[in-house]
Amino acid sequence: MNIPSDIGPSRDEVQAHRGASAIAPENTIAAFRAAAEQGALWVELDVALLADGTLVVIHDDTVDRTTSGTGSLGALTHAEAAALDAGAWFDPRYAGERLPTLEEAIKALGELGLSANVEIKQHKHHKSLDQLVHAVQADIRKRAPRTEIMISSFDPEALKAMHSLEPDLEMAMLWWKAPEDWADKMKLIPATTMHVNYKTLSIGMLEETSKSGIKVRAWTSNNPVELLSFWGAGLTGVITDNPKLFLG
Ligand code: G3P
Ligand code: CA
Repeated sequence: MNIPSDIGPSRDEVQAHRGASAIAPENTIAAFRAAAEQGALWVELDVALLADGTLVVIHDDTVDRTTSGTGSLGALTHAEAAALDAGAWFDPRYAGERLPTLEEAIKALGELGLSANVEIKQHKHHKSLDQLVHAVQADIRKRAPRTEIMISSFDPEALKAMHSLEPDLEMAMLWWKAPEDWADKMKLIPATTMHVNYKTLSIGMLEETSKSGIKVRAWTSNNPVELLSFWGAGLTGVITDNPKLFLG
């Protein structure tokens, strides 16, 4: 199907999910570089704490799926995590890729000219929300001047705490599907944006969010055709494993 070139997100509304994770191992510098090479301006990445309080960029609460190691993040120090291979599982070409700290990722994003949607993961081994959000704050404050940061989370408490620390940052509430009382829930944070699974989008919901001035981004879509009917109704952006599909 040919997609009309005037229908779809603007370039700054395409976020590479865990980097360009269709092309390179998720949540690694290689995936961020691949996103930049595709012309993306934004990446989405996941952050969580290690046992020693280091904030790392990883989706799961264990290193099993995406590295050469095993075990919970809550049982690993930075030195142990830094020794793992985070690329070979995806493709031998990426052997030697490391599991980045958020600080390392932010530095690389500055060099690549990228901005970041930092998704704060809440895991059972996390001891304190305060520790988590202060660690995020310390790292994002080291960003390059041209790197923009926004925060997202499935945990409204994490967003509330981040908003108190960094009131100027965009806060996005993450849901599989927006609940009926999304407006009340977002006011409590306060959040200006929601990120919902693309399968749960509806024209009616988008018309309501548009009227309220709320931004909506869809995750994780890897097929522009499935979003076509939503752009005109008020869909703002997309989070995708393969940004070039949406960059025209
Ligand atoms: O940011 C949207 C998306 O990343 C949320 O789901 O599981 O991929 O972190 P997940
Ligand atoms: Ca994520």
